[in-house]
Amino acid sequence: MSKDLLSISGTDYVEFYVGNAKQAAHYYQSAFGFQPVAYAGLETGLKDRTSYVLKQGKITLVLTGALTPDSPVAKHHQLHGDGVKVIALNVEDAKQAFEHTVARGAKPAFEPKEESDNNGTITTSAIYTYGETLHVFVDRKNYNGLFFPGFIEWKPEYHPADTGLLFVDHIVGNVHEGEMDKVADFYRTVMGFDQLISFDDKDISTEFTALKSKVMANENMRIKFPINEPAKGLKKSQIEEYLDFYIGPGPQHVAMATDNIIATISDLRARGVDFLFVPDTYYDTVEERVGIIEEDMKTLKKLNILIDRDDKGYLLQLFTKPVQDRPTFFFEIIQRKGAESFGKGNFKALFESIEREQENRGTL
Ligand code: FE2
Repeated sequence: MSKDLLSISGTDYVEFYVGNAKQAAHYYQSAFGFQPVAYAGLETGLKDRTSYVLKQGKITLVLTGALTPDSPVAKHHQLHGDGVKVIALNVEDAKQAFEHTVARGAKPAFEPKEESDNNGTITTSAIYTYGETLHVFVDRKNYNGLFFPGFIEWKPEYHPADTGLLFVDHIVGNVHEGEMDKVADFYRTVMGFDQLISFDDKDISTEFTALKSKVMANENMRIKFPINEPAKGLKKSQIEEYLDFYIGPGPQHVAMATDNIIATISDLRARGVDFLFVPDTYYDTVEERVGIIEEDMKTLKKLNILIDRDDKGYLLQLFTKPVQDRPTFFFEIIQRKGAESFGKGNFKALFESIEREQENRGTL
């Protein structure tokens, strides 16, 4: 492993640009059990945007909506729809992270800046990654406020219980055909990441669609970014559908970890979260493929939870349907029981399921 240039200790937050931040915040509270943390908007002196901050375990989501038509948030949203704008990384030194990455060819988004209030000082800087997506570097070691200076406590009376989500396991990006290697090289040379795994279309294909993927990770493995590109298939792949509707590259899914996927999925389903349908036939052969597992197979089948195994152990996972109008971003719920991989054995079963949904949308 190469030396970690950036000293990344984890994902700091994930910021979505959405059409209606107030309503999105309610969805993440009620459907996913995120807890209200902080707010910024007209009341705090912002003129062009409003943001709600929610937290569950170590996962911080920021939901940002535009207040004016000429806000950059409105322009981004008009083009891309709801989606992830910022994958923020917690670093030791945001100024140094900016200097290191820009010197190695990163496109700067904003220069290092300090923001202070009674709770201390946060330093941030930002660079572009694929598409219009940003990595904001956050150094909050001299800050003990709720989120950032400029935010006030958001304390609604409504706060449904959490659903057992603990931390961000990985975040996947979709890029155009022929771009995956370039983006993987960006993470290698600019960010100092290493490649964990790669898949090609022989690994991940169905009758109609195929994709290639490389998984890039930082040294302490807290940051894992699989990068997908479409490969030639008989019909339009789900990656192409994403690129068509997001109008370019962007984050495809955030995988959130739980240590009890049966409880988490039962809870999310009861709260109305839609998951991909898994055909009953998937469970006919799964035991041959994954061997003995601790969980009750009948329960996993009832909840449509997928299982995969690698040489380190097994994992349980499930994917939501897209969480906004466009067929773009979705979430994965994952529980690792030793496995360090990403569910390659499930891709075929999963893609066949996604294709059924594409068929329904007439976009296959
Ligand atoms: Fe994933």
